[in-house]
Amino acid sequence: MSNIAFIGAGRMASAMVGGLISSGAARPSDLACIGGNDDTAKHLAEATGIRLAGSLPDLLAKAEAVVLACKPQQLSGLDASLVALTGGKLVLSILAGKRIERIAQTFPGARNVVRAMPNTPGQIGAGITGWCSLRPLSDGDRSIVTAILGSLGKTVELQESLLDAVTALSGSGPAYVFEFAAALREAGVAAGLTREAAYSLAVETILGSAKLMARSTAEAEELRNQVTSPNGTTYAGLKRMEARGFRDTILETVIAARDRSIELSREG
Ligand SMILES: NC(=O)c1ccc[n+]([C@@H]2O[C@H](COP(=O)([O-])OP(=O)(O)OC[C@H]3O[C@@H](n4cnc5c(N)ncnc54)[C@H](OP(=O)(O)O)[C@@H]3O)[C@@H](O)[C@H]2O)c1
Repeated sequence: MSNIAFIGAGRMASAMVGGLISSGAARPSDLACIGGNDDTAKHLAEATGIRLAGSLPDLLAKAEAVVLACKPQQLSGLDASLVALTGGKLVLSILAGKRIERIAQTFPGARNVVRAMPNTPGQIGAGITGWCSLRPLSDGDRSIVTAILGSLGKTVELQESLLDAVTALSGSGPAYVFEFAAALREAGVAAGLTREAAYSLAVETILGSAKLMARSTAEAEELRNQVTSPNGTTYAGLKRMEARGFRDTILETVIAARDRSIELSREG
């Protein structure tokens, strides 16, 4: 594997480093990181055996690819020396809301730029990441991108104009699912269960159903119908969901998040 440099060593960078090493896609000696003012980079290096770079030139000297994994608002404060130091390298950004054009302007000498939108389950290798590239990728760069993003879970390549929709669905989606779990828990409590039992039942139901969906060739509606006998308990519950406009609520949720993503990325 080529040398990969991480600018930022927080949750997402740690997940990528962990995934790259545990899958065998990279050795610790292939990877280096640098952080900001706290000790995240030191901790990541100590925990995984990757190199803690002492400076940006040290970080990038041998790197083929640079992963931008700091906070989006830290992009404009990154050291100006990076313009020259990233020359000829592949730059992969996971910064939410930063358009590829903006990344390309910040690193004008990069040989190519990739923008990716991962999600929080990526922290346990169960994520899905939507991504796009500035220019068509060479075979070598494609395998670097696939290895880095594959360390977080599944990947889907699409055009950049769709990344706002990806942000709204899979980027924000874990929060919708967490909210759904909390709502199920509260409903379970209202139905007489203890909070603890209700939470456990809610979490395992979501987990099991998601696994079943992922393994099945049937669509969600078909699986739903398999659980729903005519005029039975599930039918009674689903009728209520329909009457209260569940699908419309989810539609409005995703569109509101998509529109906010467009707004935020316009702000730069
Ligand atoms: N978490 C998610 O699920 C998720 C999903 C989609 C996209 N993202 C994107 O992923 C990126 C990272 O998120 P995260 O949750 O991993 O953040 P995080 O845990 O807060 O980590 C941010 C890292 O950036 C470092 N940093 C700060 N200033 C820096 C600088 N000037 N130079 C180099 N490194 C610097 C921090 O180092 P110190 O601690 O030493 O200051 C820290 O290691 C964000 O841009 C976010 O938009 C995250």
